[in-house]
Amino acid sequence: MQMMGKGAIAILPTAPVSIRNRDVEHPYRPDSDFYYLTGFKEPESVAVLIPKRKHGEYILFCRESDPTAEIWNGRRAGLEGAKTLHGADDAFPISDINEILPGLLENCERVYYTMGNDSQFDQRVIGWVNQLRGKARAGVHTPGEFVALDHLLHDMRLFKSREEIKTMKQAATVSAQAHVRAMQMCQPGMMEYEVEAEFVHHFHKNGCATAYSSIVGGGANGCILHYVDNDQPLMDGDLLLIDAGAEKDYYAADITRTFPVNGRFSQEQKAVYNLVLAAQQAAIDQVKPGNHWNQPHEAAVKSLTKGLVKLGLLRGSVSKLIKDEAYRPFYMHRTGHWLGMDVHDVGDYKVGDAWRVFEPGMVLTVEPGLYIAGGQKKVAKKWWNIGVRIEDDVLVTKSGCEVLTSGVPKTVPEIEALMAK
Ligand code: GLY
Ligand code: MN
Ligand code: MN
Repeated sequence: MQMMGKGAIAILPTAPVSIRNRDVEHPYRPDSDFYYLTGFKEPESVAVLIPKRKHGEYILFCRESDPTAEIWNGRRAGLEGAKTLHGADDAFPISDINEILPGLLENCERVYYTMGNDSQFDQRVIGWVNQLRGKARAGVHTPGEFVALDHLLHDMRLFKSREEIKTMKQAATVSAQAHVRAMQMCQPGMMEYEVEAEFVHHFHKNGCATAYSSIVGGGANGCILHYVDNDQPLMDGDLLLIDAGAEKDYYAADITRTFPVNGRFSQEQKAVYNLVLAAQQAAIDQVKPGNHWNQPHEAAVKSLTKGLVKLGLLRGSVSKLIKDEAYRPFYMHRTGHWLGMDVHDVGDYKVGDAWRVFEPGMVLTVEPGLYIAGGQKKVAKKWWNIGVRIEDDVLVTKSGCEVLTSGVPKTVPEIEALMAK
């Protein structure tokens, strides 16, 4: 509110309920921006912030208490709870928002509202402002400016507080444990979904949700970046790539590990795996205050390209191959993203033309990979269908960085030892 200043109003609707099929709803999850500011989990809520408003700066529109509805669909905070439990200065029924909101807009100059997330709600906001315009001759003032709230809010979300880091560490720990369990239980002949079930079980048992659709891809499926079918048998001699993370109190972890279905890496699998591992370490070494966003990616690309030349999968001078992006058939994504309430979290990657500089409190993933799809005539057959990604979650600290997901092994001897038990 300090950043918005006097004369401003912010309007933040939470996420709508989403229908899965007919009258079945998806499990409800609030909008991340809305939850970040309010800590309020109920659907059909709108937060309004009006800095310096005498009769209260934080207004929450939400569902009223309703004993009958609550017997069917669960408890509600109600208007009293919105104030006493959730810190709103004032609370109104969501059903009255059309009557109340235009009045709140009346004396404001700037409306902080992010257009384009929810077109139905966009129309309502425009409608409220137009109502005021219609009363201009009666001397009613209309706000002159719409501003996206993202710039302020997303920069706040980029820097994690101590409390947020604590929650992210919990998500990271639970996720790491689940990856360990997957390595321990995996056997040739199992189905990919059986291994996925291990994650669902462990996440839920520890009070977490699944942060994003788990990727559990054996063999050739490990080379499909967003493989989520998870419905194929796991074959002796194949690798298994698992990208799965828990969400704790709406904060995500995002881990990928790749390991042999039968517990022993083949020579080729080991060679590719160790390249990716070395690239990941080179990238993590670049995560420290003062370095910029792209430095881990540049380090990973250099390390991977050198390695691909060593294996004979690329030929030529390393610097020219990097310049020509010759690695792209095998490494087609970037080395990471911000991580927080959203798995691909908010926050700018560039400021103007320059890459963002790392500062303590930022959290990102570091996730290089190599994907050698089968059937490529230019690639020796022994490399086909080896897909490897190694992904960890990294917190920028004052002196460098801290890997939050180190609880799950990633060297070849560690993985083989764990799987042999
Ligand atoms: N799991 C999504 C990602 O790694 O970016
Ligand atoms: Mn990721
Ligand atoms: Mn991931």
